[in-house]
Amino acid sequence: MRKQIAAANWKMNLTIEQGIKLTDDLLSENIELQDHQEVIFGVPFPYLISIKEKIKSYKNYFVAAQNCYFQKAGAYTGEVSAEMLTSVATDYVIIGHSERREYFNENHQMLAEKINLCFENDLKPIFCCGEPLSIREANEQNGYVENQLKESLFHLTDKQLTGFVIAYEPIWAIGTGKTASSAQAQEMHAHIRNVMAAKYNNEVAESISILYGGSVKANNAKEIFGEKDVDGGLVGGASLNAAEFATIIKSLKTISR
Ligand code: 13P
Repeated sequence: MRKQIAAANWKMNLTIEQGIKLTDDLLSENIELQDHQEVIFGVPFPYLISIKEKIKSYKNYFVAAQNCYFQKAGAYTGEVSAEMLTSVATDYVIIGHSERREYFNENHQMLAEKINLCFENDLKPIFCCGEPLSIREANEQNGYVENQLKESLFHLTDKQLTGFVIAYEPIWAIGTGKTASSAQAQEMHAHIRNVMAAKYNNEVAESISILYGGSVKANNAKEIFGEKDVDGGLVGGASLNAAEFATIIKSLKTISR
């Protein structure tokens, strides 16, 4: 089975004390992950070292940064490079979250450059895509998401995309309590996989983990993650509660032994 992932995105929440307590509470649940399952903590930059230290002895637990800069290094006061993230043992980087596209004017080209820098520095990107409400209402979501993939990913090689991680996050479902139905999620995830298969091939497309994000909660994760092309979730609000996130982790697809 391809990787099934429960990824937390803390966004700009929690102090370090609160973040450590949340991580300790979650780890104390002792959720043993199967080989194909991963848990990722997407934490603010200043917490990466501490949270990595907490999780590093746990199998298949990883940390993600929520962003990196699209230039290698230099006079960019306040920015954080991919190389810096690698130097503090970061595993993944969330790239192109809709909040960054919207509030920080990140465009397709910048995201493509960030992804290249991730690969150059042995970081795994989690590439976010997803449409706003107006596009969904006009039923133009398939073309919209396809264009996001084309503009930021289509320069990559088969090898780079094998085992790659994409997060589909419909903007109208983020932080609104309004989830896409599991059928809507499945439909878009299958579309994303088809787009990747058409540009690359079936083998590459089948290896890509496609996470759903947007109001994933303890009480809807199992149904959404149960869909054939949904390989877990990128979770905001509900990842700030240890018991809730633990239930979400336990909702990942398992291989019966
Ligand atoms: P919520 O789970 O709070 O809707 O946020 C989703 C998200 O943006 C994760 O990146």
